Amino acid sequence: MIDFKNMMLPHLANFTGFDPADPLEVMAARSGIPPERIIRLNANENPYGPSPKVLKALLAIKPHLYPDPQQRLVRRALADFTGFTSEHIIVGAGSDEIIDLLFRLVVGKGDSIIECSPTFGMYSFGARLASATTKSIPRDNRFEIDIDSTLGAIDSTTKIVFINSPNNPTGNIISSSDMKSLLQTGLLVVVDEAYSEFADQSFIDWVSDYENLVILRTFSKWAGIAGLRVGYGVMNPNLTGYLFAIKQPYNITLAAEAALISSLEDRSYLMRNVELIVKERARMFSLLQNIDGVDPKPSHGNYILCEFGQGKASDVYQGLADRGIFLRLFSHERLENYIRVSVGTPEQTDALITTLQELVST
Ligand SMILES: Cc1ncc(COP(=O)(O)O)c(C=O)c1O
Repeated sequence: MIDFKNMMLPHLANFTGFDPADPLEVMAARSGIPPERIIRLNANENPYGPSPKVLKALLAIKPHLYPDPQQRLVRRALADFTGFTSEHIIVGAGSDEIIDLLFRLVVGKGDSIIECSPTFGMYSFGARLASATTKSIPRDNRFEIDIDSTLGAIDSTTKIVFINSPNNPTGNIISSSDMKSLLQTGLLVVVDEAYSEFADQSFIDWVSDYENLVILRTFSKWAGIAGLRVGYGVMNPNLTGYLFAIKQPYNITLAAEAALISSLEDRSYLMRNVELIVKERARMFSLLQNIDGVDPKPSHGNYILCEFGQGKASDVYQGLADRGIFLRLFSHERLENYIRVSVGTPEQTDALITTLQELVST
C-alpha cells in the first residue's frame, strides 16, 4: 500500500483544511428532516436567490465553448459598474479564488500574513497552504480592530494584511483612519468586502489613491449566486496583470459570466432584496435581544453573531440542528460561546426565535 504522506509536501501531510458548510441534503439526512423543511442559516447565503434574469440567461449559454481567458465582457461590465477600467479588474471562481491567487503570487515559505481575529478562515487557510505563518491579532472585547497591535505585528516577513469589512463573523467595519494607517505602511492591504452591500461602507474608491490596496468583492451574497462562484478583485492594473499571468486560463465558467452580467443588469431588483435583508437584520437583532441568555452583537453584514452563557452554545446549536435549523458554530477559542446566524426571510427568523426561546428556557 502506498503511503501518500511520503509523497506529499511535508507541511501538507497533516493539513486539516477549511470547515465549509455542508449541502442541504446532508443536513436533511443528519436531522431526519426533509430538505424542503430545513432552515439553513449557516453560510450567509441570500435567501431570495438570484435575479430571474440570471436563470433566463443561463439557458442561453453555449456550454461546448470555452470561456474567455481574458474575461473581456465581464470585466467591461464590472468596469461600468465600479467606475474603474477593465485593467483594474480580475474575476474569480468566487472571491476565494482571488484570495488563493494573491497567496500564490506573493506569499511563500517563511513569509507571514496578518489578520485581525476572529475573522474569515480563508486567510489563515491560504497561509498554511503556502507554508507561511498567520499572525492573528486579537480584536478588542467589542471585536474592533486593535490597530496599534496590528501595526506593531508587521515585520520583514509580512506580505499581506487582510482586513475583512464587514468582518465575518463579528459584523464590525474598519474605520477610515485605521485603513489609512494600514495603507501607509506600503504593504499589500487586501480588504475583503464580501458583505459591503449590506453596510454603508466601501473602500473601493481608494484604489485610485493607493497602489497597495486590493478590494475583493463577491456576487455570492448580495446577488444570490453563491453556487455559481463569482467574485472579483479591484486593484492597481499592474497587479491585475501579474494575477492574470498565473491564473488558470478558463477560471470562470460561461454560467458564471452570464450570471454576473445579468445580475448587474438587474441590480435594482437585487438591491431591493438586500434592503429586505438589512431590514430583517434589524428585526432579528431586537427579537434575539429579547431572549434571556442570548446576546446578539451589532452587525453590518447579513449575519448576527450571538453570545450565549458559558458552555451553552454547542447545546443550543445541537438543539436547533435536531429541529432542522442550522446555524454556524466555531472552533476559534474566542468563539466557544458564540453562534452565528445568517439573516434569512422573516418566516425563517420567526421559526428560529420560537425554537430558540424553547431551548434557552429549558
Ligand atoms: C469574508 C468572506 N470573504 C469571502 C467569502 C467567499 O466568497 P465567495 O463565495 O465569493 O468565494 C466569504 C464567504 O462566506 C466570506 O465570508
